This record gives sequence, C-alpha cells and structure tokens, in this order.
Amino acid sequence: MKSIQAVRRNLLRAQAGYPRPERPLAPAPVGSGLLSVPGDSGLPLVGNTVDMLGNPLGNVLRQYRRYGQVSWSRWFGGNIVHLIGPDAIEAAWMDRDGVMSSELGWGQLIGPFFDRGLMLLDFAEHRHHRRIMQAAFTPRRLDGYLELMAPLVADHISEWDGGQGFPASARIKGLLLAVASEVFMGSELAPEHTRRLEEAFDATVHGGRAFLRADVGNFTWARGLRGREMLQEYFRSWIPARRAGSGGDLFTVLCNSSDEDGNAFTDEDVVNHMIFAMMAAHDTTSVALSMMVYYLGLHRDWQDRLREESCELGDSAITVKSLDALSGMDLVFRETVRINAPVGMIFRKTVRDTDILGHYIPQGCLVGIHPWATMQLPEWWPEPKRWDPERFSPERSEDRVHRFAWAPFGGGAHRCIGMYFAAMEAKLILHQLLTKFEWSVPQGYRIRFTYGTGAVPADGLPIDVCRLRTPRSSVVH
Ligand code: HEM
Repeated sequence: MKSIQAVRRNLLRAQAGYPRPERPLAPAPVGSGLLSVPGDSGLPLVGNTVDMLGNPLGNVLRQYRRYGQVSWSRWFGGNIVHLIGPDAIEAAWMDRDGVMSSELGWGQLIGPFFDRGLMLLDFAEHRHHRRIMQAAFTPRRLDGYLELMAPLVADHISEWDGGQGFPASARIKGLLLAVASEVFMGSELAPEHTRRLEEAFDATVHGGRAFLRADVGNFTWARGLRGREMLQEYFRSWIPARRAGSGGDLFTVLCNSSDEDGNAFTDEDVVNHMIFAMMAAHDTTSVALSMMVYYLGLHRDWQDRLREESCELGDSAITVKSLDALSGMDLVFRETVRINAPVGMIFRKTVRDTDILGHYIPQGCLVGIHPWATMQLPEWWPEPKRWDPERFSPERSEDRVHRFAWAPFGGGAHRCIGMYFAAMEAKLILHQLLTKFEWSVPQGYRIRFTYGTGAVPADGLPIDVCRLRTPRSSVVH
C-alpha cells in the first residue's frame, strides 16, 4: 500500500502539471505594433473550466461572438488562447515562426499515456519520424489493411441481431476494437489475451480524461498508467517476431518501415507509435461512424440513396478505389465530421513569443485550436446546424470557401496521417451495414453526449435496427 507521503508527493506532482496561474494574459509589449489578445478570466477560481467541460462548443462559440478569432480565457487554473475561424487556425497549423509545440500543448493533457507518440513530437524530430511512418499509410498499404478488414467486419456484423433500442455506438466501438486487434496488432492473440489488451487500451485512452491527475489508488489516471505499462510490455515482447515477419498489419509494417534514406524505427519508437496510433484511430473513427449511422437513421432518404449505391457496387472485392465510387457516402462522411468533429479542439504551447493575426501571444502560452467551432460559423457555412451532405457536392462545394473552413483532420505538419485509413474503415463498415440492415432513430429520441477531444454519444446510441429480409450484395473476399 502506498504511504500517505507518496500519495501527497503524487498529488503535488500532478498539480505541477496544470498551467500556472497567470492573470490576465500578458498584454502586447508597448511599441510592438501588436494588439493584446482580448478575453476575460470568467468565474472566480474555476474560470471557464466547468462550462468548457460541460458544453465546449457553446462555450467557444460564445467566446468567438464576444471577442473574435483570437481570445483568451481561463481553465484548469491557467490561461488559454483560443483560435477560432479558418484564418486563425491556419496561422497556428502553418506555424510560420516554428513556435507551436504540440508536445508541450498535448503533453499537458495526455503526455504520460502517449509519450513520444507521433503527435507528441515536435519540429525536426517530428518530421523525421513522420517520414518513416508515412510508409505505413501508402495506397498499397491501405489496400492491404482493407483486405484484412473486410472479412472480419462481415463476420462480426453477421452476429448482430438488431432490434429496438439496439446500442449502435457501443456495438460499433466493439467492432472497431476487434478490427484494431487484427489490423493494427496482428492476429496471433487468444481471445482472453485480446480482452486484456482491450481493457488496457481503454484504460490508457481514458487516463487523460481523469479529473484527479495523480497516480493514486485505482482511479482513472492510475489505471491509465497501468494500462500503458501493459501495452508497452505487450508490444515489446512481440517486436522480434514482427521484425522477422511479413504480415500486413500495422505493427509488422511499422517494425519494417523506413524512409527513402533507410532510417527505421527503434524498438521503443515502434512501441510508442503503436500505442498512440491505436488511440488516435479508435475513438475518432468510432464517433464518426456512429454519427453517420445516427444521421442516416434520421434521414431515411439518404439511407436509401446510400443503400442503392452500395448495392450497385455489388459483390466485387472491395478496394480503396472502389469505395471511392460511393460518392453519396463520401458526402455523408464529410458532413458528419463537420457537424460533429471527433477532434474538436487541438492543443499547442508557444516556445517563444509570437503573433497570430496581429495579436501578441507570449512564450509558454497554452493555445487551443478549434476546428469544430470553426466548422459551425455562419460566416463560412450557410445554416451550419443543418446536416446537409449536398453542401459538399461538386455544384455547391461550400468547403472551397477557405482551405481551412473544413478541417476535421487538422492541418500543417501534424495533419492526421490516418485520414484516408479512417474514411476507408468507416465506408467499408457502413457499406456492409447498408447491405444487411435498415435502421431508424426512434421518435423523440435525443442524443446525449460526453466530451473528450470531441462529442461522444453517451448512451450507446439506442436505435431501431432491423435485418433486411433479403440481404443485398455484400462483400466477400
Ligand atoms: C475520423 C477519424 C479521425 C479524425 C477526425 C482524426 C483527426 C486528427 C487530427 C485533427 C489530428 C491532428 C492533431 C494535431 O494537430 O495536434 C490527427 C493526428 C493524427 N492522427 Fe488522426 N484522426 C482520425 C483517425 C485516425 C486514424 C484511423 C489514425 C491511424 C490509423 C490516425 C492517426 C493519427 C496520427 C498518428 C496523428 C498524429 C500526426 C502527426 O502528429 O504527425 N487518425 N488526427
């Protein structure tokens, strides 16, 4: 059992991880020609923390309406600069001065769980790792992952029974975990081993959401740390076999990837990148797919349209290219991640003084970049609250208005490396669902959310699902 002193020490350490109180944000130096960032410190003691946790989108949109694209507020006891709107998020992502540290920004929230994952590396070192990792996301590799995935998905959903109040998002999450075990980690796992790994993975992902940020007892943060240790152990133990193997799973591919100059990952790099990639892929795609299912349950005309497309695609072996033929599905994917961005807020910390859109941002400042709020601004998106996939049709192309108006996958050096993977996985699964089931959202049902990096359905998303009497064409490899 831990001594009281050890517990106190851990609490103090955790506290040191929070931003230091600094009130208000430092003004622009006299004569610099820059503007001070407008903002306020919110409620005494808690600042904006409670509102940000309970209704992050509403909070940020209010901030925007009050202060504009660049503003500051307080949360978790420290100042944060919010960037909202395509120009502001572009400036941070393109990072002209090379001052936006992702490691320090994200590290404050999820550092102990995802240390040295790709998103938590910076500048030259990040570029070096990203070049090697890119080899795992080429079109040829994606086709390989798809080939592993298709029969697995078909098997898994053939066991779904459907019915009223079918917990769609909970089942989708389970399906994606099963797919990740095979497609990310490789397939040599006994079921009880898979379950333990899934639990460890879940604990690691949720660690960063802990309120009590200390290695105390069996609370969320501590469980996350134990989860990470177990994942590290697992991946380390399999590296020799994967380095010698030729499988098409992400783990084997990362073990054997190199850039054009022959640079490859060390064992520790592989472990860190695997743990991070699993996290980056999982909740995000699960939310995107669940919300696509939800909107198609509300808009039955779109569900029918997509089912027609899927049936037209037929029983041929599915490839990344053939999924591209599902043009209606592509519109639905884009619109769904616009209206419900799985990664709604992105963090950086400035390593030197800088400026954004003429505003002075001091060194050591936590910066929140807001793609979700940006995609809800009526200045850029007509009727932003309306789910309207046709806005992405060639005739309307509403996203063309600014290159960062639609930005669910980020931008600049850290832009999502798994973007095509995510779209491919979501489309494959939806394609198979459409050929086997039809579904609707019960009248009066209102979806509830919890908030991580974005809005996540909180109640498993109970909808009415019914197996098609004559299953339509389906994917068989
Ligand atoms: C709908 C699903 C997804 C969304 C919305 C999403 C969104 C994002 C965003 C916004 C970033 C940038 C974060 C930043 O700038 O700090 C990011 C980075 C990243 N994503 Fe995704 N992601 C998704 C799926 C995936 C998948 C399936 C994978 C892996 C197979 C993946 C792997 C990564 C990695 C490794 C990074 C870090 C890239 C870097 O730092 O260079 N993501 N993602």
